Amino acid sequence: MRSEPRVIVSLDFPTADEASLLVSMLDPVACRLKVGKELFTRCGPSIIEKFTGQGFDVFLDLKFHDIPNTVARACQAAAKLGVWMLDVHACGGRQMLEMAREALDKQSHQPLLIAVTVLTSMDEADMNEVGVPGTVSDQVLRLTSLARQCALDGVVCSAREVGMIRHAMGSEFKLVTPGIRPVDSTADDQRRISTPVQAIEAGSDYLVIGRPVTQASDPLKVLESINSEIESIEEAI
Ligand code: C5P
Repeated sequence: MRSEPRVIVSLDFPTADEASLLVSMLDPVACRLKVGKELFTRCGPSIIEKFTGQGFDVFLDLKFHDIPNTVARACQAAAKLGVWMLDVHACGGRQMLEMAREALDKQSHQPLLIAVTVLTSMDEADMNEVGVPGTVSDQVLRLTSLARQCALDGVVCSAREVGMIRHAMGSEFKLVTPGIRPVDSTADDQRRISTPVQAIEAGSDYLVIGRPVTQASDPLKVLESINSEIESIEEAI
């Protein structure tokens, strides 16, 4: 029996038409969708309503980071839009995370609330330069632990961090992993990639996959092949 879709297709498109064309080739049973800053800034809430109306679960990836009241209200607005998952920056601090949680707890529709820890575009030198001493892994673990204390549902993390976080946070905490490449596809500009099977085996719950699906001549076929790889190891786990 097929489990819930683990793949979240990243809709990195500049226009609603391009995103909608790709989505028309997909199936809500096979994947979820991620709408990020570019598409949302161009198209607004209507694009979310369109895809949820077509039966897709949508991850609204706007990485909120602001004063607690502003973030709480933005989370409330996202819940009212019917998104399945949304994210905030853990470095916004305890009060911001707690208020985001409380705001969602009051909603009739409650999306998963996920934290971003250290962006994978930053290395130790970048992090130290903005005043955070120590290593990236220490900071990732510190912020993940803060997110968990504030009752967030999980974190976005690189495939490289999945094993360490799964071990430290237990099985209920959701791990969302970008930088995924099927064995036969190119890395594009991703530097630390992992295959779908490697990421799931390490403990990832959801895989964010963009170009290997969005640039394929038959996106649904690529998805089906990723899903059958995942299903074969789910049976073994
Ligand atoms: O096309 P590709 O599979 O590389 O797309 C990955 C998606 O995940 C993009 O939307 C990218 O911005 C996002 N992402 C990432 N690495 C992170 C966080 C988000 O690649 N650490």
